[in-house]
Amino acid sequence: MAQFRPFDMDSIPIEDQFMNWKELVKAPYDKKAVDAYTRTRVILMNGIENASVLMSHAIERMTSDPEIKRQMALIRRIDSFQQQTVNWLNPANQTIIETTLGYEQVAVDLTANLAKNEPDPYVKQTLDFALIEDFDHLYRYSCLYDYLEGGDYESIVQGKTEVKPGRPTSVEHRHPDDTMRKHYNKDTADIKTKMNYLTIVAGEQQTELFYKSHGFMYSDELARQLYSEIADVEEQHVTQYGLLGDPKETMLEKSALMQLCEAYIYYSCAQTETDSRIRGIWESFAKMEISHFNACANLIEKYEGRDIRDIVKADIIEPLVVFEPNKDYVNRVIEEQLDLSPHKMEYRRFKDIADQWSSIKFQWKMNRAGVPSEEVVSKAKSELAQRDQAEKIKQFKNEVTRRTEDLMAGRPSPM
Ligand SMILES: [Fe+2]
Ligand SMILES: [Fe+2]
Ligand SMILES: [Fe+2]
Ligand SMILES: [Fe+2]
Repeated sequence: MAQFRPFDMDSIPIEDQFMNWKELVKAPYDKKAVDAYTRTRVILMNGIENASVLMSHAIERMTSDPEIKRQMALIRRIDSFQQQTVNWLNPANQTIIETTLGYEQVAVDLTANLAKNEPDPYVKQTLDFALIEDFDHLYRYSCLYDYLEGGDYESIVQGKTEVKPGRPTSVEHRHPDDTMRKHYNKDTADIKTKMNYLTIVAGEQQTELFYKSHGFMYSDELARQLYSEIADVEEQHVTQYGLLGDPKETMLEKSALMQLCEAYIYYSCAQTETDSRIRGIWESFAKMEISHFNACANLIEKYEGRDIRDIVKADIIEPLVVFEPNKDYVNRVIEEQLDLSPHKMEYRRFKDIADQWSSIKFQWKMNRAGVPSEEVVSKAKSELAQRDQAEKIKQFKNEVTRRTEDLMAGRPSPM
């Protein structure tokens, strides 16, 4: 497969990147014919563009230099146009819950791909940890799809991603203290780690925003509650992932890395895209991003006296980010890590920390009037509902419930 070499790539001058209204909005894909992974690429690239725009806005408000602000406004405007082009590829007849299944398929197969290729063990562990939570969301939303629309999740995931419980959503709820994570060191971290970090933060942030901007659009009470419950887990994911980044990176450095990440992911998408029309979009947008990256590199040189090559420290970023089935990998993580629980910035076995875990009380409070992600299973057809009875899943849920009840009743833990 081709290699991503950001310093050797063609680019398009930024002033040539403005599109007219008719170029900006392109025809949507056909939801009946689209490949599942074309849909996931559209969802991911929309999230990456949105992250780029939001980060640029945050930085603009903390920057006083007029030249930096002007350049950031220019780049941001193009990223904003790109986001509209990408997000408008989603067709109007794709329902909210169908798009939602696409979001969780992104979360599963993107996270698995990043984790498999992540050089930093702590960052990899953090990816694995949340991977099997998003995997569970895909199952809960598949139950909702069946209940609300009589829909078959296979029409969305197309057999590429399994649908069954992971770490049950009902036990994913934790006290904010337990979303704290350590960050990588900007001077020693591999560029792949920095790219993975920006990619997963963008994906999770977009997922949270999508659930929060659509969950209230249902009149069904359970659907409204399920979106709210899972949106809150995504807030935890955005927090844990966001904290992996080194806060000592300068704002210009963060901007340059974000633009590099956009280029890297567009380039990755272009190499694997099966729809030639959409591949053309990925290819041209990758060239645009190289100019954004170069513009940020020039700012770093001018204002910080640093060479961007001393920050990137690589000519090639590899491997590319690829959407493909990860069934064996996901099953192995479920098998080995179902009961992991974050405590004091480390991942521990539930049974070892239950007695001192601040999340127990939090979870008890949140779940005590009923849990939408459990209730939705009983509304789904029996074959789908039955999957929640898998022995390992049931055992873990029961263990958490038992320990929680004991602790809340002040009973000592069994030896
Ligand atoms: Fe962009
Ligand atoms: Fe999720
Ligand atoms: Fe997530
Ligand atoms: Fe950009």
